[in-house]
Amino acid sequence: MQLYIDTANIDEIKEAAALGVLDGVTTNPSLIAKEKIDYRRRLAEICEVVKGPVSAEVIATDYAGMMKEGREHAKIASNIVVKLPTTVDGLRACKAFSDEGVKTNMTLCFQPLQALMVAKAGAFLVSPFIGRLDDVAEDGMDLIHKMRQIYDNYGFQTKILAASIRHPKHIVDCALAGTDVATVPFGVIKQMLNHPLTDSGLKKFVEDYRKAFGG
Ligand code: G3P
Repeated sequence: MQLYIDTANIDEIKEAAALGVLDGVTTNPSLIAKEKIDYRRRLAEICEVVKGPVSAEVIATDYAGMMKEGREHAKIASNIVVKLPTTVDGLRACKAFSDEGVKTNMTLCFQPLQALMVAKAGAFLVSPFIGRLDDVAEDGMDLIHKMRQIYDNYGFQTKILAASIRHPKHIVDCALAGTDVATVPFGVIKQMLNHPLTDSGLKKFVEDYRKAFGG
């Protein structure tokens, strides 16, 4: 399973990239707003640090506006993926971009038929928001399982990118479900290597060695 970071914060991206296992980055308008920076300048900075796919979301919600904004985003670097909402206009833009050879990430996917439609339109990535489904007493992982089955039934190449990940258990469940990519907030990435038995075991190894041999 590939690991992306879900942030627009350049320090977090640099720190996560330094781990050596980061495959890409996702951003969204809310994450950019938190940073209070020029979106395109930040996207260019991110693309300098991470060579894998970097999702750049459009703000426009109409087809023509999405095409214009997406084309501008795509000029920033060759690893930019244009992120579009899963709406009627977004689907049209997805098809047009995929016909032009521009990769897309279809965001705000909340049900399996949205996933089927964007795959038919040639999306490179699709982002089911699992945490937000859990927030409204639905089952985010159930959507992932259904999407995996539909894509496998028909051999769709669109990658399932689990988004709105809130905790490590989501990542375990995604990996077991055959999710292609998980995009994870920095705080949760840091939790991925944690286990109290690792810490106590390491402490004991070092203490035992020092007791026997000094140092
Ligand atoms: O990038 C989209 C997604 O990951 C948002 O997550 O936590 O705002 O639901 P969240």
